[in-house]
Parts: sequence; structure tokens; C-alpha cells
Amino acid sequence: MNTDFIQIVNYASKAPSGHNAQPWKFHITANTITVIPNMEVALPVVDGSNRELFISLGCSVENLFIAAGRFGYIVHIVEVGIGEIKMELTKTKLVVEDSLFLQIEKRQTNRSVYNGNKIPDEVLKQLQSVPKENSVQLYFVAMGTSLAGTITDYVMKGNEFQMNDAAFKNELLLWIRFNKKQVESTRNGLSYLTFGSPSIPEWLIRPVVSLIMKSGVQNKSDRKRINSSSHFVVCTTQKNTIEEWIGLGRTLQRFLLKATEIGISYAFLNQPCEVPTLACALQKESFINKEYPTLVLRIGYATPMPYSLRKKIETLLV
Ligand SMILES: Cc1cc2nc3c(=O)[nH]c(=O)nc-3n(C[C@H](O)[C@H](O)[C@H](O)COP(=O)(O)O)c2cc1C
Repeated sequence: MNTDFIQIVNYASKAPSGHNAQPWKFHITANTITVIPNMEVALPVVDGSNRELFISLGCSVENLFIAAGRFGYIVHIVEVGIGEIKMELTKTKLVVEDSLFLQIEKRQTNRSVYNGNKIPDEVLKQLQSVPKENSVQLYFVAMGTSLAGTITDYVMKGNEFQMNDAAFKNELLLWIRFNKKQVESTRNGLSYLTFGSPSIPEWLIRPVVSLIMKSGVQNKSDRKRINSSSHFVVCTTQKNTIEEWIGLGRTLQRFLLKATEIGISYAFLNQPCEVPTLACALQKESFINKEYPTLVLRIGYATPMPYSLRKKIETLLV
């Protein structure tokens, strides 16, 4: 098997994904790589339409494009099936020196409290000028403005909905890795380390976590984290289709890699987009222009956190 292709799909697998479920498999031939959704790790409660799953696949595809360029390949998408993305890779003598390549392994979601510093306008412009796929928009909203207050209210309402939904909490609990042993045996899910927690046996910590999964606790924690950030970034699409979600994932990944390159941290607060009634209400807010709100992020400055593990690449090849 082409060893370049193995390395390229390894970079693709470093993409972010909801609950770190890593919902992808890869099929390699002599001149193609296909990214295939792995529906066995779909998240039917928090992501009933699989929108976040396809956004994650888009992130993976973008990593693949960037890494392939570095290995001297030009990539063409030849087919987008039911979420399956087949790409043809042609070897050239040209190695693309995309600085984002170096960020693939440095990127991380950072859920910590940030340092409160504002992102200067000239730095913000670099993020705003990241190239976007068709029908994808990113709206930047400075903390402290009334619009940021409105978005914060949506996040709080999202917590109230999700933290009172037993199915949501059960699904989330399934993906929390409470200790080192669980992290190393699964190599997926939400590691205790990324929340700044100690490694504790599940039987001891699970009842405590179940108890603090309450909207009041979550709202207090999120409010502190929001107030420590510089801006919200709200991502939208026009038609809410699989193709657009993949396009959004590609744009998102470029955005996250660019943020990493210029020292900006980010975390997701997607609750308003995950609860359909809230997403519908948010869509009517004037700044969204009736587009579909799909992701909400906060950005700012923070100290790096430990990294999430990824599945070994040989387990992802089909
Ligand atoms: C589409 C998408 C949705 C996500 N939603 C959330 C979220 O609602 N809350 C959160 O804390 N992280 C969210 N994440 C971040 C993932 O949990 C994170 O990517 C994963 O745990 C792997 O960690 P890493 O990004 O540091 O590699 C999301 C990521 C993606 C791509």
C-alpha cells in the first residue's frame, strides 16, 4: 500500500469531531482515498441529523488536502456519495509549503478559562480572511456587546434543555473517559485530561459527574468561560445540506488551523444549534440573515491543555 497515503490519512484522522467520536473510516486504492462516515459512532441524541458528523468529516477532508499537498499530490474530489467523499490523488513534483500543515498536530480544542485579553483587530482580520467554501459564513461577535449577550442567553437556554434531557446526559456520559486506563483503551471520547480533571476510577467519579450535570452548574461554568473569551464565532450555512456541512467542516478546519498558527485558542458552545427550537429562533436574529446556525465557538487566549488521543490509523482502514 502507498505509504504516503497512509501518512496522509493519518493527518486526516487528527481532525476534531463531536465528542471525539472520530466518525470516519478510510479506503485507499492505488490513486484514490475515500473518507467514509462511520455511523457506528454517530451521536443520535445530540446530533440527530448527523450534521456535526458530516462537519467532522469535512474537517478530516481538509486535513487530507493540506497533508496531500505537502507530500506532493494534487487532490480532486471525484464523488460525494451519501456523505462518502472519494478523492483522486495525482503525484506532482510540486510540494505545497502550506504553513497550516504544521498546525495539524498542534491544533486542540481548549475548554479552559481564557485570560480575558481581546484579540486585536489586525489579528482578527487574519481569521476573518480565511477562505470559505460556498454557502458558508462565519460571524464574529465581540464579547461585551448586546449581541454577545443574546448569544450567551441562547447557550444558557441550550444548557437548560440539554441538562434536563436524560437521553442527552446518558449519551454524553458514554463518551466521557474518566481515567487514564479508559483513555488508552478506547483512544476516543472526551478525556478527563482535556477538562483539567484528575484520573479517577469510573465507579467513584461517575455518580459525582451525574450529579453536577445540571443546567445551573453548566451555566455558571459556561458564563465564566464566555466572559474570559474575546469573541464568539457563529458559523452558518444556507440550505442545511450534507454537502454544505462538509464544506463548513473544511472551512472550519482551515479556520482552526489558522487560529492555532496565530496563537488563538477556541472551544465550542454548540448548544443553541443542537436544540432545534433554539436554532430556529437564532436563525431569526438579524445578524444571521436567516441562514442556518450550525456551530458556535468562543475564541481568545489561553494556556495549552493536554491533547485528545486518536485511534491508531490501522484500525481506521477498510
Ligand atoms: C462538529 C463539531 C462539534 C463539536 N461540538 C462540541 C461541543 O458542543 N462542545 C465541546 O466541548 N466540544 C465540541 N467539539 C470539540 C470536540 O469535542 C473535539 O474536537 C474532540 O474532543 C477532539 O479534541 P481536539 O479537538 O482537541 O482534537 C466539537 C467538534 C466538532 C468538529
